Amino acid sequence: MITPLEWRGGRIRFLDQTKLPTEETYVETDDPEVVADAIRQLAIRGAPLIGIAAAYGVALSASKLQTGSSNLASALQRTLDMFASTRPTAVNLFWALNRQKRILENKADHSPEVIARSLLAEALKIHEEDRGMCTRIGEQGAGLLSSDAVVLTHCNTGRLATGGSGTAQSIISTSWEHKKLKHVYIDETRPLFQGARLTAWELGRLGIPSTLITDNTAAFLMQKRIIHAVITGADRITLNGDVANKVGTYNLAVLAHYHSIPMYVAAPSSSIDFEMEDGKDIPIEQRSSVEMLQVNEKRIAPPNTQVFSPAFDVTPGSLVSAIITERGVFRAPYRDAFNAVHHEDVGVKSGIA
Ligand code: MRU
Repeated sequence: MITPLEWRGGRIRFLDQTKLPTEETYVETDDPEVVADAIRQLAIRGAPLIGIAAAYGVALSASKLQTGSSNLASALQRTLDMFASTRPTAVNLFWALNRQKRILENKADHSPEVIARSLLAEALKIHEEDRGMCTRIGEQGAGLLSSDAVVLTHCNTGRLATGGSGTAQSIISTSWEHKKLKHVYIDETRPLFQGARLTAWELGRLGIPSTLITDNTAAFLMQKRIIHAVITGADRITLNGDVANKVGTYNLAVLAHYHSIPMYVAAPSSSIDFEMEDGKDIPIEQRSSVEMLQVNEKRIAPPNTQVFSPAFDVTPGSLVSAIITERGVFRAPYRDAFNAVHHEDVGVKSGIA
């Protein structure tokens, strides 16, 4: 079983995903800055896992500050700010940090020991909740596929990206277990090859038959009627159903629409930004030009070539056939259903419901 991140004896242990699939290297640290840097470098990646890592990072910081910190609150605010500045697009990061912030506010009058214990308990809870959400997404989504389904997926949405069995990939593995899935095509996912390096590796370990394609092969496969459904994850979903996900997702949605193939997006409710109306306001991370100009440290373009490298794009909700969450399968119009989910959550957290 792949464990990309865990809390172990007061430290965080994570798998360095930048080294996969050639090396399985684990890093163990008690330094929150190492965790923040791992998120920046994509050693820890995938929207839900980024949130989980940041929640543990805040707990780690509190446990280190227990002795001798005269101003715990401001020191922890700096930790929250540090994690908030790592990557801008996945809302799960800010959702998890907000949960830790609420703990800090609620426990403000308690001792540093109690605060540290409460932050760790919340991080463990966020991790455990995500595990359950992944399982339920798999169960909800598997029902949508016809038998002998051939699906296309993008980037990596599996164990490496979450606290459990994944989002889109949980639907893939659940359908495989239910003997409904025949084959998976994997976009290699330029520029950082999450499809080739990570998804091909995960599906291989699960024994799920898959074929790797370059990102620009999808249209050809759809034209030949080989693909029955596209399934991707999400980094941020807005109230109107717009979806930010790994760049290239929008291409797939346009192609799927043209070929009348369902385009499914799978994500936990922690990926829904209940404050944002539509996708035009989603901050899109820009990656370094080096990631495009070099592959495995070998130059593939002239050094002074100008590069445009957004990490994500935004697919309009109108191109999404359904959004599969742990709470059920949602179809347009999304706003009222998402607001109902949010009110339920807010009610549960404040003890109203
Ligand atoms: O840049 P990454 O590798 O963090 O991007 C990941 C994705 O785009 C995933 O599709 C998304 O986070 C959903 S993961 C369950």
